[in-house]
Amino acid sequence: MHAPLLAPSLLAGDHAHLGASARAVENLGLAWLHCDIMDGHFVPNLSFGPETLAALRRTGSKLFFDTHLMLSEPQRYVEAFAKAGANNISIHIEPAYDHAATLAQIKSLGCQCGIVLNPGTPASAIEPFLDQVDLVLVMTVQPGFGGQSFRRDQLPKLAQISSWRRERKLNFRLEVDGGIDLANAAECRASGADTFVAGTSFFKSADQAAFVAAFAKL
Ligand code: DX5
Ligand code: ZN
Repeated sequence: MHAPLLAPSLLAGDHAHLGASARAVENLGLAWLHCDIMDGHFVPNLSFGPETLAALRRTGSKLFFDTHLMLSEPQRYVEAFAKAGANNISIHIEPAYDHAATLAQIKSLGCQCGIVLNPGTPASAIEPFLDQVDLVLVMTVQPGFGGQSFRRDQLPKLAQISSWRRERKLNFRLEVDGGIDLANAAECRASGADTFVAGTSFFKSADQAAFVAAFAKL
């Protein structure tokens, strides 16, 4: 099992100063930054695009850009995000497109790839892709907005995917995203998660260094 990894979500950062928000993450010694990309179609909200990632790279950021595409047609955008500096690109299982080909395309662009499932989507939907991915992202809220409440009913799904990983001797990261705080991160960890997206709980924390320190003890 991978060591626990905290991936603050830039969506909860300061949108007038995203460079400063990313820098704060890096200055705390964290390696990953979760970048939420929304198209106003697959999810009812808009966020930012590849030019934002490229601009963050130009500030000198060395963070691992964990890029979560909440898009109806992700295959149209993976190349732009790879060129912009994404390190991992995760795509949802729910829309209809060629998932296997898009995952292969992400890898051919030199990025890691991930598959994502919404709370209403069963684990079985992503099972055929488990040996093809570097990361599985289990949404613990309906995607579209930060600041929602964690859905505990997703824990059995995590445990199921974690047991497949163990049985098949696979090595993908198992990530959770949505309403994550220190308390429920511990529950997710117990169900097999190793990678934890934190938007509101991280950026609104009064003491981010203390949050990171407490997190490392998970
Ligand atoms: C939800 C996004 C999440 C979100 C997490 O659509 O995928 O990454 O920013 O934010 P919090 O931690 O506030 O739920
Ligand atoms: Zn996300």
